[in-house]
Amino acid sequence: MRFMNPASIPVTRTNQSRLAEIDFNRLEFGKNISDHMLLCAWRNGKWHMPEIVPYGPISFTPAMLALHYGQAVFEGMKAFRMKEGSINLFRPYKHAERFNQSLKRMAMPVLDEDFFVNCLHALVDVDRAWVPREEGSSLYIRPVAFATEERLGLKVSEEYLFAILTGPVGPYFNKPIRVKVEDHYVRAAEGGTGYAKCAGNYGGAFYPTQLAREAGYDQVLWTDAREHKFIDESGAMNVMFVINGKLITPQLTTAILDGVTRDSILTLAREEGISVEERKISVEELAEAFKHGTITEAFGVGTAAVVAPIAVVSVHGRDYTLPPLQTGSVQERLKSKLHAIRLGYEPDRHGWNYIIK
Ligand code: COI
Repeated sequence: MRFMNPASIPVTRTNQSRLAEIDFNRLEFGKNISDHMLLCAWRNGKWHMPEIVPYGPISFTPAMLALHYGQAVFEGMKAFRMKEGSINLFRPYKHAERFNQSLKRMAMPVLDEDFFVNCLHALVDVDRAWVPREEGSSLYIRPVAFATEERLGLKVSEEYLFAILTGPVGPYFNKPIRVKVEDHYVRAAEGGTGYAKCAGNYGGAFYPTQLAREAGYDQVLWTDAREHKFIDESGAMNVMFVINGKLITPQLTTAILDGVTRDSILTLAREEGISVEERKISVEELAEAFKHGTITEAFGVGTAAVVAPIAVVSVHGRDYTLPPLQTGSVQERLKSKLHAIRLGYEPDRHGWNYIIK
């Protein structure tokens, strides 16, 4: 399958498009799934020919290994409608690389990067009418792979399904969020699966996040597993702070997801001449920065969330409020720059845009 081109993937088109039912002015994140999906099976030691078929349920046995032992990984990506109408699949090779990192960590077979990108290209092209034109909207793309072998014994699966789903989305958060620094539960420990985008990382975060929600927060700000002393990430996104005018973000470890938006924002910040620090940032440093008024911004960065302003950070039960966002803030400047590159208003100097004409 290595050098297959997008046009060689067989397509069965739906004769009942659901596109007309979608209200593109009121897109709820993750609610609408486009007309088609791509499916590709791993059997007998190789990936087989993918196919694009109408989106819908598929039947599986409850004995499939993914359900019991958690071999399931995914990606979150986006495609944008550019100013002149072309479709821009954003940084697909960076996502391919991370998908493979996740697959490797879960002892699953990797995909050739060109093959992965060709699959995305073909599917997005078939459902190109689903890529929104509305300001702030995009097509969310969800590649996923999971173990399908029918077996109850504890073992590495010998069969997998790789699937891609897409759906039009609007903003992930509709207002600045409140986050709670977690000092009891753990998302990931060094040496664990935190850097991989595996399903269990998210499932394991639900309960502590529910507790945080009940206490009035939107998300948990995860800290290191050993001491709860250093900030890791926020589960649905990486986090960044502006302290004394410097853009500071936790350095990557095996417990933190290597966010594609994180990387894009840091690259743009450096180009803009903003002083960037990727390093450990302690909860204490954060609390001190609030006490001394040296922290001016806190925000999340992720594919789904894009750049999500944080309004309140709770540290050991005390709420610290960020000052209101000023026009020309670091996060606004970087978000607009990223947006302009994706939509073709500014040159793509890093080869991030993969254009589907
Ligand atoms: C993404 O940003 O794409 C994510 O995967 C985060 C979340 C929606 C699961």
